[in-house]
Amino acid sequence: MSDQINSLRINSERFKANFDALARIGGTQDGGVHRPALSESHLKAREWFKRQIEDAGLQFQVDTAGNHSGVLKSGPQNAPTLLLGSHLDSVPDGGRFDGALGVVAALEVLQVIQETGISLPFHLEAIDFTDEEGTLVGLLGSSALAGKLSVLDLQEPRGGRDLLLKCLSKANLSENDLPDSRRDPRSLAGYLELHIEQGMTLQKAEAEIGVVTSIAGIGSYRIIFLGRADHAGTTPMEDRLDAALGAGAFTISVRDITQSEFPQCVTNIGAINLFPAAFNIVPSKAVISLEYRAPESGMMKRLEAALLDRANMAAKQFKLGLETEFLNEHQPAPMDIRVREAITIAAQGLNLKTINLSSGAGHDAQSLAEICPAGMIFVPSVGGTSHSPQEYTKWQDCVNGANVLLQATLRLADQKSS
Ligand code: GLV
Ligand code: MN
Ligand code: MN
Repeated sequence: MSDQINSLRINSERFKANFDALARIGGTQDGGVHRPALSESHLKAREWFKRQIEDAGLQFQVDTAGNHSGVLKSGPQNAPTLLLGSHLDSVPDGGRFDGALGVVAALEVLQVIQETGISLPFHLEAIDFTDEEGTLVGLLGSSALAGKLSVLDLQEPRGGRDLLLKCLSKANLSENDLPDSRRDPRSLAGYLELHIEQGMTLQKAEAEIGVVTSIAGIGSYRIIFLGRADHAGTTPMEDRLDAALGAGAFTISVRDITQSEFPQCVTNIGAINLFPAAFNIVPSKAVISLEYRAPESGMMKRLEAALLDRANMAAKQFKLGLETEFLNEHQPAPMDIRVREAITIAAQGLNLKTINLSSGAGHDAQSLAEICPAGMIFVPSVGGTSHSPQEYTKWQDCVNGANVLLQATLRLADQKSS
């Protein structure tokens, strides 16, 4: 690569101004953002992104899954497209960096390459995927684009069917049209995503850049224990069919089995709702949101079976009924070796200390890895905090990550032309 290309850097002032402007949309008192997928604030953030794309003279595009993109025609007419992106939605009361950093950096890379006027062997697209966080479904936009979403998958969404339909309608999207956003894999040169690490590995290693080797698979279930509503004052303890006891025993046994038999995995019970929910009624129903994550698909299957087994044991122990509803699953995804190489060389060219690491968090890159070479760049999260308003990444690390995204894009262009 020429010296001119090696020395290309992002415009850090513009990058910061854009990042800060975006953080104000849905910004919360404590410095975080509240932008659940397709909520008012998320739709406003998407309008902002559209305006930036148009003001930059890039081509704006939105597909039937609501994925928003800015396109730079930087390659020959029939060339494939290299996607750069992440997501603008957040978890409820989340942080400013998760997802937003990758989208703003992608836009910045397109602007820098547009300004230099260089041609590449591919076109570039900065993309904001719909509902990465799973307020509605999880990886909704990227799964649809990868051709992995069927309308059947949407019958029991994580956030409930009513919310999904209401949000789709608010965003002028139709459930039946979502799968039409599928892209032909031949039209894609690859996918690159910059993201905060959301863990402590980089900070502990005193490394500036993480090259992601693989992304953990994620599965989710709704687990329902069924008991019997009774008077809490007159029903003897031994005669109760108390759904809360099933939920409690299950919660503890999920933690125990994960730690003892699946040390490389994590599990989470993120919600337990009891019904009818009153001080003086024995709970007749406990509805649990269960999520499990594993680095490899065989292990993920074994973990799933073990968790269901534990649910059965808890139901038996307290003489309860049990219903288990499988919600969805995203397979573990290895990152492409050539893309990893491009990221590593790009970071070394910038004199940044890199390490390889796997991701326990889910990302749109795992959908894309199923159809094209995909890779991820991580930057350190202070204290490992994320999915919280306290989420923080030092600005210099954000700039480093965006420069690695730019240089890795140019390395991939170089790989492709040689
Ligand atoms: C997404 O951020 C997830 O890993 O839940
Ligand atoms: Mn994210
Ligand atoms: Mn997240």
